[in-house]
Amino acid sequence: MSEHLLSVKDLHTSFTTDNGEVHAVNGVSFNLDAGKVLGIVGESGSGKSVTAYSIMQILADNGRITGGSVEYKGQDITKWNRHQMAGFRGKCCSIIFQDPMTSLNPVFTIGNQLEEAIRLHTNKNRAEAKARAIEMLTLVGVNEPAKRVKQYPYELSGGMRQRVMIAMALACEPDILIADEPTTALDVTIQAQILELMQELQKKLGMAIIMVTHDLGVIATMCDEIIVMYGGRVCERGTADEIFYNPSHEYTKGLLRSIPSTERMKERLVPIAGNPINLLNMPAGCAFCTRCDKAMKVCLDYVPMERRVAKDHLASCWLNDLALEEKAKEMAAAGESAEAVQLATGWVQNEGGEWAFDPIVAEEGGADA
Ligand SMILES: Nc1ncnc2c1ncn2[C@@H]1O[C@H](COP(=O)(O)OP(=O)(O)OP(=O)(O)O)[C@@H](O)[C@H]1O
Ligand code: SF4
Ligand SMILES: [Mg+2]
Repeated sequence: MSEHLLSVKDLHTSFTTDNGEVHAVNGVSFNLDAGKVLGIVGESGSGKSVTAYSIMQILADNGRITGGSVEYKGQDITKWNRHQMAGFRGKCCSIIFQDPMTSLNPVFTIGNQLEEAIRLHTNKNRAEAKARAIEMLTLVGVNEPAKRVKQYPYELSGGMRQRVMIAMALACEPDILIADEPTTALDVTIQAQILELMQELQKKLGMAIIMVTHDLGVIATMCDEIIVMYGGRVCERGTADEIFYNPSHEYTKGLLRSIPSTERMKERLVPIAGNPINLLNMPAGCAFCTRCDKAMKVCLDYVPMERRVAKDHLASCWLNDLALEEKAKEMAAAGESAEAVQLATGWVQNEGGEWAFDPIVAEEGGADA
């Protein structure tokens, strides 16, 4: 298997709190290749930002990675020291935060902040950094960049500030850009412009992007792959087309019903009922079982395994196992070997002719979807 630019494997991250251990990320895996765009989607509290911060190792003091690995070009960076991680941030991987006003320092000019970011990660002198700052502002479509560098964040509009944040993140030409809800604070028109800009820059600079969002509709067109998160787990992953037209997890279906789309103009938007999961007290089985109207007994007791439901599409929902039972029977009827049937579906037929699901034979699945 060829080496991925970034490979997150079975990542676990928790926070120690007075009320107990908050399990924010619970076994997340995915791969990202150079020049590709991955979307991470989920409701508030599903663990999207904590996943991103774990990759960058910028967790709050009470947080730590408790398991798994984050491989960058084949090296597990969770084992790297502070110095190595400082080099990774900015140069290999940059992040744009949700609210530019909290990320930009109000007491320094835009130019100061951009130049500082550039000088921190490159050998450029002050004059070269200044020239690069103006070049970056031009690249991200900030008008009159020579004037803007002398301005303070409060003098710029929300859209302009977000462009400055993008310029700052891209100043060192990272291989990976993580955009954590980069447009949530903006109005719809500006939001569209910023997303268009990110797509343009991604093509021009060839970097890989991780787009973090709670709004599936916003990022669908730009993602090569989407992962849907709930309760700190990936519940579904696949191409945007597969996720939109063949959702195979009840949570994803709920998310889709809750977003506006041109095809569903006449339908009512339905928010997902129930309260988000309590991460201090995770259910033994499917994280979504307390809110799912199709939950079965097995859902309460066992975590569903990730199953391939189509070529570029995997989902972790017990309902897919029922569909797989049908497939197993069809395969057996077509003369396929018991081993092949079991490998493809996880279902086996005992000597008495009865079919049983054998969860040990789970498909390898996961990060290569
Ligand atoms: N420092 C912390 N201490 C305790 N719990 C935390 C801490 N940081 C995050 N969490 C918890 O981790 C869970 C996941 O948070 P995260 O910020 O990743 O959610 P998210 O998916 O990014 O949501 P949003 O869409 O609101 O940004 C939440 O329940 C959150 O309360
Ligand atoms: S595994 Fe069960 S509870 Fe979870 S989404 Fe599927 S049907 Fe619902
Ligand atoms: Mg977040």
